[in-house]
Amino acid sequence: MSAWQSVHVLLQCVLAVGTPHVAQDSQHWMREAREKLQGPHNASIGCGSATGFSAWGGSQDPNEGFEGWVYLMVMDYKLVNRSFYLQVPQDLGQRAAPVLIGLHAQGFQADSYANGHDFGNFGQALGFVSVFPQGLDDAVPGGSDLGTGWNVGTAGDNQTCIGDEVMADCYASCWEQNQCGRCNWSGCYDERLFIVSIIEAISAVLCIDHSRIYVTGESNGGMLAHYLVQSLPGVFAAVAPWFGSPLLGYGLGAQFELVRDSKDCRQTAMLQLHGRDDDVMPIAGGVAGNKWIYEPLNKIQQGWAAVHDCDTTASPTKTYWDGGTSNFHCFDYKSCSSGRRIMRCYYDGGHMDLPDNGVADQITLWFLLQYRLDDSWNPWAETETLQVV
Ligand SMILES: *[C@@H]1O[C@H](CO)[C@@H](O)[C@H](O)[C@H]1NC(C)=O
Ligand SMILES: *[C@@H]1O[C@H](CO)[C@@H](O)[C@H](O)[C@H]1NC(C)=O
Ligand SMILES: *[C@@H]1O[C@H](CO)[C@@H](O)[C@H](O)[C@H]1NC(C)=O
Ligand SMILES: *[C@@H]1O[C@H](CO)[C@@H](O)[C@H](O)[C@H]1NC(C)=O
Repeated sequence: MSAWQSVHVLLQCVLAVGTPHVAQDSQHWMREAREKLQGPHNASIGCGSATGFSAWGGSQDPNEGFEGWVYLMVMDYKLVNRSFYLQVPQDLGQRAAPVLIGLHAQGFQADSYANGHDFGNFGQALGFVSVFPQGLDDAVPGGSDLGTGWNVGTAGDNQTCIGDEVMADCYASCWEQNQCGRCNWSGCYDERLFIVSIIEAISAVLCIDHSRIYVTGESNGGMLAHYLVQSLPGVFAAVAPWFGSPLLGYGLGAQFELVRDSKDCRQTAMLQLHGRDDDVMPIAGGVAGNKWIYEPLNKIQQGWAAVHDCDTTASPTKTYWDGGTSNFHCFDYKSCSSGRRIMRCYYDGGHMDLPDNGVADQITLWFLLQYRLDDSWNPWAETETLQVV
């Protein structure tokens, strides 16, 4: 570390200690988020021509808001009827709204995931739209079935698991695309196409901000969040995977997109939340449950920190939510030249456990809403005219 860096780190410590932080003060973080949201935005084609929700069974008046299921036909390797659960706050007005995409865990439903979190209420308070895509379960009849889930681009890769125990029979969409293997566990629909189709569909109906699209998710949904920011580089302003780690070989993207597309990946900030005692997707990575092989969390973050040109090691960082009954503590890679942060927080608990008192929802929103894509950046400019019916 150079002398300049030492001074810089010292200064940061002094500043951190000198800042009065009130633990669990939701007003404080919400005030910060509101200030950030006053900044510039990049309006979708739905701005000025928002047609309301009548096509989705809701009101014609866009200011009445909307909550419910939306169906979307997606031209995957074949035409497939997909769905998402949508929460649009009331009185959104004409200001382009940020979009939070929340991805449920394996075996779950989008509406119960939505109802298990506070994103909808905070969306009403802060003026953002929440989208909860639904994963599919197309297990073959009579076969062993792991429920709804997400294709995170690893189907057919035999190096992501060990042992020969039957984990699940190959799902129909994998059979039909020749992607069965020893490590079967999900369907093989293209989730990138699905998510892009959702964003296009809501961009036309609602006034949304293309520079503020965020993604979070739990477990398999966290794995999908990783896959999306890797394989749709530059689309998301920030990502927050919760206890979801990429499988072996996918930490930097299936095609090493973090290296190939590092300029685009620098648009995306990252926060990861993970229980210290998670033995399904362990923080340390490696073989879990005698089956799957995961990347270590710190290696994933080091990859992102390299892309963002941050310090090479993570150091403790203060948040509004530190300590508490879950012993919540965070670390980040400081001094990123991208102006963004790569951060992780650990707390007491296992897989699918959350820190107490709604901390996960709050810190996730506080983190995500700080970021927007650079001014000159609009990956949607060319695709926005596409109509997905
Ligand atoms: C898609 O599925 C939903 C729920 O089953 C159904 O209501 C809808 O009509 C389907 N859409 C199409 C175009 O088949
Ligand atoms: C993967 O699916 C195929 C086809 O259903 C099945 O024969 C095979 O046993 C499955 N493998 C595992 C490890 O579950
Ligand atoms: C993975 O293993 C299956 C047998 O379980 C085999 O049919 C398939 O070709 C293998 N895939 C690759 C990419 O090697
Ligand atoms: C919005 O996107 C356009 C490209 O479509 C870009 O030229 C413009 O700079 C962006 N504006 C902001 C404020 O991000």
